[in-house]
Amino acid sequence: MKTRLDKLISQCAGVSRTQAAALCRAGKVSVDGAVIKSGAFQADLQEQELLLNGKPLTAPPEFLYIMLNKPQGVVCSTQDGLSPTVLSLLPDEYRRRELFPAGRLDKDTEGFVLITDDGALAHKMLSPKSHVPKEYEVLLKEPVREEYAAVFASGMEISGGERCLPAELFFNKDNPFACRVVLHEGKYHQVKRMFAAVGNSVVFLKRIRIGGLCLEPNLAVGAHLVLLHKDVEKLLTRKGF
Ligand code: URA
Repeated sequence: MKTRLDKLISQCAGVSRTQAAALCRAGKVSVDGAVIKSGAFQADLQEQELLLNGKPLTAPPEFLYIMLNKPQGVVCSTQDGLSPTVLSLLPDEYRRRELFPAGRLDKDTEGFVLITDDGALAHKMLSPKSHVPKEYEVLLKEPVREEYAAVFASGMEISGGERCLPAELFFNKDNPFACRVVLHEGKYHQVKRMFAAVGNSVVFLKRIRIGGLCLEPNLAVGAHLVLLHKDVEKLLTRKGF
C-alpha cells in the first residue's frame, strides 16, 4: 500500500512527521535508489527499498512491550496532573504509540511494570481468571512471623471482607524484616492489606516478577528495556520457579 513518505519514515524511524519531512528535504531518504526530497511522495514499504541515511527502513513491530523498573513517586497511569507517570520515563520516540501500563503498582511501590500497546495481552495478563503470578520483595516494619506463611497460603481475608487466593510467602534467612510474596491475582493494595491483616505493615515493596519473567537484575531504577518476543511469551506463564 502506498503511503506518504514522511508518514512512513515517522512510523519506522520513530521520529515526528516534521522531523521526517526535514530528513527528506535534507536528501537523507532514497526510494529504490533515487533520493526523494518531498515528504508527500507516495511509497510502498513492502514493494520498494527505502533507505534512511543509507540504512534500510523496516516496518515497526506491531506491538511494543517494555519492561520498566518503576521508581517510587511515579504513578502507573497515562496522565496525572501532579506526579510523573510511567510513560513520562520513556523516550519521546515511544510517545507516538498508544502505550499504557498493563497493571498498576502503588505510587510508593518500585519495580517491574509492563508498558505495552497490546490490549489483548494486557487483558490476558490482568484477567482475574488468568492467575498469572506476580512476585514482590517486601520489607516490613516488624519482623516476619512464621505463621504468616500458613495464613497467606490459606486464602486469607483482608480489609473490606475480601478473600484472597492462596499466596506464597518465602522467608529471608539474612533479614528477619524481609520476605518475598507471590500473588496469583491483583487486588487493590493487596500486599499491604495482607500484612495489615496479620498486624504488620509494609515499609518497602518492589515487584520482581510477572508470570515467568523476572525484572532484569541490572536494570537501574527508572530505566527500561524493550522485550523480545520470547520474553513476552513468558509474561503469561503461570508456573513459578
Ligand atoms: N500490593 C500492594 O499493596 N501494592 C502494590 O503496588 C502492589 C501490590
